[in-house]
Amino acid sequence: MAEPKENLQMEKIVSLCKRRGFVFQSSEIYGGINGFWDYGPLGAELKRNVKELWWNAMTRQREDVAGLEATIIMSPAIWKASGHVDTFSDPMCDCKKCKKRFRADQLCEDQGLTLIKTPAGKYELPAGTKCTSCDSKELTEPRPFNLMFQTYVGPAATEADIAYLRPETAQAIFAQFKNVLETSRQRVPFGIAQVGKAFRNEVTPRNFTFRSREFEQMELEFFIKPDEVIEAIHGSVATVPAIGHPGEPQPNWGWQAWHQYWVEERVRFYEGIGLSRATLGFHVQTKEELAHYARACTDILFKFPFSKKDENGNVKGDELEGIAARSDFDLSQHQRFSGKPMGVFDEELRAAWAKLPKEKSDDLWKRYYDHRKNYLTKSAKPDETPEQISKQATDDANGLARGQYIPHVIEPSAGVDRLILALIANAYSEETKTDDKGKSETSVTMKFHPRVAPFKAGIFPLLKNKPELVKKALEVRDLLRPWMNVFYDESGSIGKRYARQDEAGTPFCVTIDFDTLGEKPELLDTVTLRYRDDSKQERLKISELRDWLLARIR
Ligand code: GAP
Repeated sequence: MAEPKENLQMEKIVSLCKRRGFVFQSSEIYGGINGFWDYGPLGAELKRNVKELWWNAMTRQREDVAGLEATIIMSPAIWKASGHVDTFSDPMCDCKKCKKRFRADQLCEDQGLTLIKTPAGKYELPAGTKCTSCDSKELTEPRPFNLMFQTYVGPAATEADIAYLRPETAQAIFAQFKNVLETSRQRVPFGIAQVGKAFRNEVTPRNFTFRSREFEQMELEFFIKPDEVIEAIHGSVATVPAIGHPGEPQPNWGWQAWHQYWVEERVRFYEGIGLSRATLGFHVQTKEELAHYARACTDILFKFPFSKKDENGNVKGDELEGIAARSDFDLSQHQRFSGKPMGVFDEELRAAWAKLPKEKSDDLWKRYYDHRKNYLTKSAKPDETPEQISKQATDDANGLARGQYIPHVIEPSAGVDRLILALIANAYSEETKTDDKGKSETSVTMKFHPRVAPFKAGIFPLLKNKPELVKKALEVRDLLRPWMNVFYDESGSIGKRYARQDEAGTPFCVTIDFDTLGEKPELLDTVTLRYRDDSKQERLKISELRDWLLARIR
């Protein structure tokens, strides 16, 4: 199952990934299965490190985020409420001649065209669109293709037993919102984080692992007070500069400040694992691109080798993560579909509301009412009347005086596999050296940030046939092992062993030599430490080695 060869750089990356055991094609011995990838020994370590760093940054290092680990298969009612059953689809079309299947928007995009969306919500191919495989212009009309993988729960396999593999981890967070709120003793604003598998039956998986059918997400749903609530309590909503990190969270922040905060926090996270700002890009979704309930969405992009140039020749990048301000849509949907209240009680709001001048409370009431009515109208079930909607919006707005509201949410949603691919592409570095005889050799160094590198240090005895060196090297390995992932290697020349670790992205190598054993008495119990990126070497005491490494890999 060959991947389209996007460009030479990607070819090299895909080849290295297989050769060194970062990523393998799933089910390779049976010809592969399109859109599924396995992580080999180095890839599995890299992935673990990334997920752990995200988890640490998002939950353990914060007071205001709790974790969750939910099931992949959940009640299908969740996907009805979230809108996935009805609308989670991509437009698909087929070539009538060669039978190749396309995602209609990508087919158009690849030809510099834009798929047409009619006012009725249907898709049409613009004139001139052709099959990129056989050039035929005989293509079927685009039709929606739901991306959720379906299965059956239990042995009956009837319509009533249909369930879905989750297409995102987010919905479990909304469905468990009340349980987490009650058990974690958090108060809004606070977040719930989850890392886990997601599945999408992508029409055309492509660009190696970038668009897969099985992948992992790292999602945070950060619940905040609606702006009307902030205004009632604090008098006004804080304004923050449009660019840059807005600083430590403040009680009077509304959704805009929180949204900006999370965009900048996430960029800092990427910088902290080696993706500089220069390698990233941003896409601020336009009104037309935004879902009807969303107030804003900023995508953080990475400039992948396959990322296209814009009309000015600049590479914008492709999406790593989206940070969306999703209003109170998700919790409201689950409240309506499950019949279980998803709102919270806020004593500060109740007390503040009682003291508001009538003009102010009327204004806030009206704004909240309008927002709720707008949401209820757009999400109405066929049997809901305008009167019922107005009554519900009135009840919701009346709740403010009792200190009740449905939290809004900011959602930073990142893909693990895309981040792994970005880290691999970013780390890939080649050097070609020509010897005296004119023979050229190209070597690869994977310049991973030490925090994400699969192995933190390579441990080598200078010679494998000297038991004293081997014994000491194994002692050093065992000293470091409880603290970090190290790789012991005694085979081949030291140069070869360095080269192997450079390709694996190991930032430091430690060699145990005769000086370690005291050949030069002043160097007893010291080792040679070699840096991956510039091959520089220095001498370090074994007793200081662990802390020296820990300071650089954390
Ligand atoms: N809960 C929001 C959500 O799922 P999304 O933009 O559809 O939003 C979030 O997905 C992230 O998940 C993306 O930014 C991307 O990193 C990752 N992702 C989505 N589809 C993917 C796919 N088919 N293969 C790999 N990663 C994917």
